[in-house]
Amino acid sequence: MTDMKRRPLVLANWKMNMTPSQVLPYLDQVIPEVEKDTGADVAIAAQDLYLAQMVKATTNTRLAIAAENAHWTDEGAYTGETSPKALAEIGVSYVLIGHFERRKLFNETDGRVNLKTKAALKNGLKVIVDLDEDMSTYDTVNPNTVVLAQLRAALAGISAEELDQVAIAYEPTWAIGSGEAASATAAQKAAVLIRQSLKNLYSSGVAEKIRILYGGSVTTKNAAAFLSQNDIDGVLVGKAALDPKQFLELIDIAQATH
Ligand code: PGA
Repeated sequence: MTDMKRRPLVLANWKMNMTPSQVLPYLDQVIPEVEKDTGADVAIAAQDLYLAQMVKATTNTRLAIAAENAHWTDEGAYTGETSPKALAEIGVSYVLIGHFERRKLFNETDGRVNLKTKAALKNGLKVIVDLDEDMSTYDTVNPNTVVLAQLRAALAGISAEELDQVAIAYEPTWAIGSGEAASATAAQKAAVLIRQSLKNLYSSGVAEKIRILYGGSVTTKNAAAFLSQNDIDGVLVGKAALDPKQFLELIDIAQATH
């Protein structure tokens, strides 16, 4: 618990959704509203294919663009992969590393998450490190094991200074895309444990500064409960954010609760 106000971050994760013809109309709808709001940081993570166009459309706006993944080296013989250096050069601001779907479907290990985080930071990208947890019950949170081990592994060798550019997203695996979010108190409990762990790994000053997001079936109905928790500083939103109206509502909620 802290008195320190961390600026909330609302991150949409489009995943492998949206067709090319939907991208600009979505941005056109969202940008004027995002420009009016100043109380939250806002970003959209999208397929690589759309990123250059999205960066161009959001130049000089408050809406930041994120990649959903990036490789751990700047260049080389890695067919089908995306270079963090290239992402930085086109003006992408954030990269999501270690999303549950990457870990589960593409065998992304803790070691790779660490390498990718370091490479992204080296290139000046901000990183959202995703931690997930496979719990058997919806209301029991016991992140001592998997989540904290993922946290330690992801941040190995990363300095306190570099951590300034990192946010952590906590997502119970069963909550992702299921329509069954964690309870806000359970998510707060997890965020406290994550922050405590950051305090042990770095310092209380560092731990108090870092943003911790909740993700997993966030909607306009449950977002306020998450965002009003002391240690939850943002939301990572998949399905609900595919609708620009709901995304804007979520941004309003983030501002109203912080
Ligand atoms: P969801 O996705 O909001 O659709 O559950 C969240 C995520 O994948 O990060």
